[in-house]
Amino acid sequence: LFPLISPSVEFNYYIFILYFQVLKAKNFSHWKGEQQMYKLDIGWPKAPEYFTGQTFCVAVDSLHGLVYVGQRGDNVPKVLVFSEEGYFLHSWNDTVEMPHGIFVWNTATGSSVWITDVGTGKYGHTVKQYSPLGKLLQVLGTPGNAGSSLIPLQFDQPADIFVEETGEIYVVDGDGGMNNRLLKLSDDYKELWLTGTNGSGIGQFKIPHSVTVDAFGRVWVADRGNKRIQVFDKVTGEWLGSWNGCFSEDGPYSVRFTADYKYLIVAQLNINRLAILVAPPVGSIGDCAIVHSVQLADETKPHLVDVNMRSGAVYVAEIGAQQVQKYVPL
Ligand SMILES: *[C@@H]1O[C@H](CO)[C@@H](O)[C@H](O)[C@H]1NC(C)=O
Ligand SMILES: *[C@@H]1O[C@H](CO)[C@@H](O)[C@H](O)[C@H]1NC(C)=O
Ligand SMILES: *[C@@H]1O[C@H](CO)[C@@H](O)[C@H](O)[C@H]1NC(C)=O
Repeated sequence: LFPLISPSVEFNYYIFILYFQVLKAKNFSHWKGEQQMYKLDIGWPKAPEYFTGQTFCVAVDSLHGLVYVGQRGDNVPKVLVFSEEGYFLHSWNDTVEMPHGIFVWNTATGSSVWITDVGTGKYGHTVKQYSPLGKLLQVLGTPGNAGSSLIPLQFDQPADIFVEETGEIYVVDGDGGMNNRLLKLSDDYKELWLTGTNGSGIGQFKIPHSVTVDAFGRVWVADRGNKRIQVFDKVTGEWLGSWNGCFSEDGPYSVRFTADYKYLIVAQLNINRLAILVAPPVGSIGDCAIVHSVQLADETKPHLVDVNMRSGAVYVAEIGAQQVQKYVPL
């Protein structure tokens, strides 16, 4: 692109850009002494006017280069689909009331999108699977009825879902309803194990808000109300540990790993921050350490995030700013 510019000039230009990023950041102190890890992609999406509601969640299809956004509001499409380059592709409304969490499931035969719906109308209290074009494929839970039953399956404001390649499903239930639990389901939607009750003791939850599984068989849960992250064995559901020390200012809203599984990215809605924590290797999860943070503008309210597991790009669904932003690794 710039054949006349020598590498060192390019490097200086790069520093210059970084300097401006720092100046643009409202609070200088957050950036001091920290290595910059991400840069905002100001060109994503190409046409931000498609965000017409409150953007609660985002999921990346790393394989097919698609980004799904769940938004709420009256008379707005509930799911928006963009390309990774930022072009708007299509949207759908049908059978989605109040999307909370969203997840893309890729298998050898195709991809689908799972959405947790905390609506209170006739489609609410469910976890639903859609084709990439928005065709409803599967409904878990009892639409329109909140509950705790396992047969038939019921949810109360299910907050987030993670699906393994094998089809095994993890649901955190929920976002302030009567349940405070983590559920593992088989690929034919039967309970394999369930853990968690209302409380702040070991293995208990207060608003289990986001869930993910790492490459070492551990399930990570953002235990928002208890201001901690708890970790469980994915086979047995056994409690493995807890990170209590890093979220005193604001509870964790999201748990997602970076593409190399070296870090966890945690949104903190009330302090408008993304915290990046070292993910521990196999074995004991030890104590938490925030190695980097991205301070967003006041009232941005980052809710849930997702990561492209190929490029490493991080997408942040911001309820306050009513947009999804893309951060690219430096
Ligand atoms: C800036 O960051 C520091 C350290 O986190 C914090 O104590 C202070 O309140 C912040 N100031 C503003 C204006 O956000
Ligand atoms: C969704 O519903 C809104 C309001 O009813 C409508 O304006 C919009 O065209 C619909 N979009 C789709 C994709 O159905
Ligand atoms: C959970 O327990 C607390 C008291 O520890 C109580 O205030 C709250 O209402 C309970 N929540 C549910 C959903 O039962």
